Amino acid sequence: MTSAKYPSIKAGTDSLKLNTGATVPILGLGTWRSPDEQVTKAVEVALKAGIRHLDCAFAYDNEVAVGKGIKNSNIPRDQLFVTTKIWGTFHRRVEEGIDISLQRLGLDYVDLLLIHWPVALRQKGDEKIPLREDGSRDLDDERTLNETWKEMEALVAKGKARAIGVSNVSKPFMEDLLKTAKIVPASNQIEAHPFLPEHDLVLYLQSKGITPAAYSPLGSGAAPVLEDETILKIAKAKGAEPAQVAIAWQAQRGVLVIPKSVTEHRIISNAKLISLTDQEMQEINELHKQPGKHIRTCMPPWGVDFKFDNYPPPGQKV
Ligand SMILES: NC(=O)c1ccc[n+]([C@@H]2O[C@H](COP(=O)([O-])OP(=O)(O)OC[C@H]3O[C@@H](n4cnc5c(N)ncnc54)[C@H](OP(=O)(O)O)[C@@H]3O)[C@@H](O)[C@H]2O)c1
Repeated sequence: MTSAKYPSIKAGTDSLKLNTGATVPILGLGTWRSPDEQVTKAVEVALKAGIRHLDCAFAYDNEVAVGKGIKNSNIPRDQLFVTTKIWGTFHRRVEEGIDISLQRLGLDYVDLLLIHWPVALRQKGDEKIPLREDGSRDLDDERTLNETWKEMEALVAKGKARAIGVSNVSKPFMEDLLKTAKIVPASNQIEAHPFLPEHDLVLYLQSKGITPAAYSPLGSGAAPVLEDETILKIAKAKGAEPAQVAIAWQAQRGVLVIPKSVTEHRIISNAKLISLTDQEMQEINELHKQPGKHIRTCMPPWGVDFKFDNYPPPGQKV
């Protein structure tokens, strides 16, 4: 399925099989920073446009509005693939975390439940990012990812999550998790786009049967990937939108891709999967080697060398 250097699957593939046997549509709708008053409509538009995969999270504070969009669509539950995530302050109470999300979304189960951050945060009331007195994030150092994973595994047996996975997990963290996991994670959701292709991590995950999912596939907020000359050139040659090029590149790498939009015409055009030639794939694979084109857009900057307990660096705000 993969070439030696870069991940690649058959062009035109629009769904993948998880290691549970479940089918997941490659393209999903992201919902981070989608305000309540817009996300219900965005979900309705996406579902009408044929998207059947939604990426949600407790931490996005909009699951009730997402749930409304699902309900308004009248699409049978078994035709949808819904992902949500357990927030850092819930690592010691994973079941409570999923119960809140299920209630907010108006669902009995999710298709995929991820651990949002691979580190636990100490619970302090309802604070989302509890801080220590020195302004750094208040890590729950005694809680390991492996322990939290064990609680995730129990939720599969209870039927609350059909599949479980992780997010923001680098290769060393994954290797450590696999030493004790009874259930191999179905997916690892990571920041990935042409400016941060994560080729090695993607190949590693695929070799373990873990489906990679790309978040911030357009480069997040200002969508900087869409202004890149190579992406623009390929889009122009194909008569496609730049976002369609960035999305198709992920799909043809065998990577789930969850662009966020609350803009009707963008949601509709993002939903149309185009095909790229091998040469176009290759150009995008190599694009990040250009000067100034290797960029991580989401914070904290998860990666092999990242030390969460020193974040943010002294003198910087979270
Ligand atoms: N697991 C994690 O830690 C994590 C972290 C970050 C993100 N995520 C997930 O991944 C999803 C996607 O990532 P993201 O929200 O960071 O960023 P993204 O999808 O890379 O980019 C979103 C931005 O691109 C714009 N956009 C969307 N389609 C466009 C198009 N066709 N043309 C031009 N602009 C377009 C959106 O604007 P409008 O909305 O105004 O149209 C928005 O400003 C999130 O929503 C979330 O579900 C997960």
